[in-house]
Amino acid sequence: MSLRMNATAPSFTPAALARMRADLAASYDLAPSLAAAEATRDIHARMDRVVPLADWARHAPYVLAINRLKAERNAAILAHNYMTPDIYHGIADVVGDSLQLAIAATKVDAEVIVQCGVHFMAETSKILNPAKTVLMPDMGAGCSLAESITPEGIAAMRAKYPGAPVVSYVNTTAEVKAASDVCCTSSNAAQIVAALDGDTVIMTPDQYLAQNVARQVPGKRIGWGEGSCIVHERFTAQDLREFRAFQPDVQIIAHPECPPDVAAEADFSGSTAGIIAFVERERPAKAMLVTECSMASNIADALPEVDFVGPCNMCPYMKMITLEKVLWSLHTMTTPVEVDPAIAARARIAVERMIELSRKAAA
Ligand code: 13P
Ligand code: SF4
Repeated sequence: MSLRMNATAPSFTPAALARMRADLAASYDLAPSLAAAEATRDIHARMDRVVPLADWARHAPYVLAINRLKAERNAAILAHNYMTPDIYHGIADVVGDSLQLAIAATKVDAEVIVQCGVHFMAETSKILNPAKTVLMPDMGAGCSLAESITPEGIAAMRAKYPGAPVVSYVNTTAEVKAASDVCCTSSNAAQIVAALDGDTVIMTPDQYLAQNVARQVPGKRIGWGEGSCIVHERFTAQDLREFRAFQPDVQIIAHPECPPDVAAEADFSGSTAGIIAFVERERPAKAMLVTECSMASNIADALPEVDFVGPCNMCPYMKMITLEKVLWSLHTMTTPVEVDPAIAARARIAVERMIELSRKAAA
């Protein structure tokens, strides 16, 4: 495993966090409250298998304050499937995988979008909604994949594979999207690659997603980048085999950012939304989700018959987004994500092409 540090400096130093807490305490009643927990009992019921009442009594005052402020600010919260249950069930208007959130961003009526996810997701929302305010609760929430490729890296790949189209994972900066022909997410990567002309395709930056797609689309020669996800690269095929030896009835479900030998050991591999849909459909007695830890927590209550077993890994970037920072973001209307209009215009072409190709493939 290679553990890289986030290239973007976290926006909250300990002193900034202390100031934020003092300002919030002066404006809202945020003390743990059983009365607030009682008032939000319907929300807690969606996660009480994984969030004890004592924890919910700490979260509930924030959830009440955020939901009130959201209405006042005409804001919508788009939350990725890796958000913690308090965000996922408590304050989100839309939850989903990267593709679902990108599509949802094209349909949002609210004037303000608060992106509960990582920076590239907020940039994608801004690219698709240049006139709206898109707020990031913590600008330090990056992604090891997005940090692993630059426009110069794309140019080098084009020089290595002349004439081949560049498919960039949506986990990239706006500049990289602008230098690409089309984007993809883990839920449509194979369809996008298969739909492109020519026998060679460049996929960047996730080497493992590219190798997993290469197995699914054997007719294409795929050149790949060197990036990887620090969460998924840590799983090993040996881990999965050992788990299955102890629990032969377990269904193993892996995200395609896992190394190809890990994906090959799994019973199913798919995007975060694909993983949720698989478990909802199959309802296995035991399921091991080879991905980020919040995935199992977010669906545990809706699937009481499923026992979620096995290890998971935490995404340190996704976990920078907290209720406290979301409240601060709406309270102060910070931090708006900006994308240079010329870059956004070119990046939009790559993102919209992806959405269009996905729609065609699903039709
Ligand atoms: P999904 O598109 O599957 O939600 O993946 C996004 C991501 O960052 C997974 O690590
Ligand atoms: Fe990036 Fe991996 Fe975190 Fe997803 S889980 S945001 S790919 S580091």
